[in-house]
Amino acid sequence: MTQQSASPGFASTSPQPDFRRFRRTRMTDALRSMVRETELSPRHFIYPLFVVHGTKVRREISSMPGVFQLSVDELVRECIDVHRMGIPAVILFGIPEHKDEVGSEAYDEHGIVQNAIRALKKEVPELVVITDVCMCEYTSHGHCGIVRGNEIVNDASIELLAREALTHAQAGADMVAPSDMFDGRIQAIRTILDANNFTNLPIMSYAAKYASGFYGPFREAAESTPKFGDRRSHQMDSANSDEALREVAEDIEEGADIVMVKPALSYLDVIRRVKDTFHMPTAAYNVSGEYSMIKAAGRNGWIDEPRVMMEVLLSIRRAGADIILTYFAKDAARLLRG
Ligand code: PBG
Repeated sequence: MTQQSASPGFASTSPQPDFRRFRRTRMTDALRSMVRETELSPRHFIYPLFVVHGTKVRREISSMPGVFQLSVDELVRECIDVHRMGIPAVILFGIPEHKDEVGSEAYDEHGIVQNAIRALKKEVPELVVITDVCMCEYTSHGHCGIVRGNEIVNDASIELLAREALTHAQAGADMVAPSDMFDGRIQAIRTILDANNFTNLPIMSYAAKYASGFYGPFREAAESTPKFGDRRSHQMDSANSDEALREVAEDIEEGADIVMVKPALSYLDVIRRVKDTFHMPTAAYNVSGEYSMIKAAGRNGWIDEPRVMMEVLLSIRRAGADIILTYFAKDAARLLRG
């Protein structure tokens, strides 16, 4: 080793270190943004909303601070805001006046969601109105379809789901999103839509939807907790991801235009596999429990809520989701627009 000369103005002649300096591109905001791989923008969001009968109803969900059950008049006001913030789409969940064994209001042309769609398409025509197609909010037993004995029946249920989707389309919905996880529902819905001249109406399929504990707060919001049993006979087992690929492949085959993985955070690996395998427009649902945990910890001062929110949303995008359904849509849009 020779002694280094320390003459000012001359570069050192010592050998380069044999490690890479990743920190060079992290030194300033400008540099960090130049090398940033993943982008988060309000255009990626779908905002879920809960609609109820009545007027001037704005009832906060106790387990979901900042999320409300809204009557149609309040929903319209909310959606004008949402649209103004650059969020392109909402997804509607309805809470009916009466529940019965066969979920009649789900496919009633004057049901709560059908009324909400008509009002929104009149008042905020550019907002993309997506509807959740399921029966669990509408049935007295809280299951996603028809129940016989202890069985949640598949084939009779998908006929009703197809009818429900058709009434949404007829009311003016821009997209339907079946969330039940019965077999064959995408084909049944595509068939009835096409037969009624809705060939251009896209279907976003809840394609890989897991039986999850993270839906707890949603069931308070949508009043859809099953009265007996659970959803494990149709929603997926958390342990499986090869099966998720088979579910997604089948839904694409049957006519799904956008495929969804749900929940998002415990299933980031599934989002990545789905995106890499099918190269389809891929959505992920950042579900109620994922929202409520961050809200609760934020309120306790245990985490920096806005920071964690952005980190979580970015992680879902990084995993491969093009679209994120999230209760954080407005909060995040506000932050993103400075
Ligand atoms: C079914 C449906 C559920 C969610 C969306 N659609 C609940 C379930 O399957 O029990 C959950 C969404 C969330 O937790 O945010 N209609």
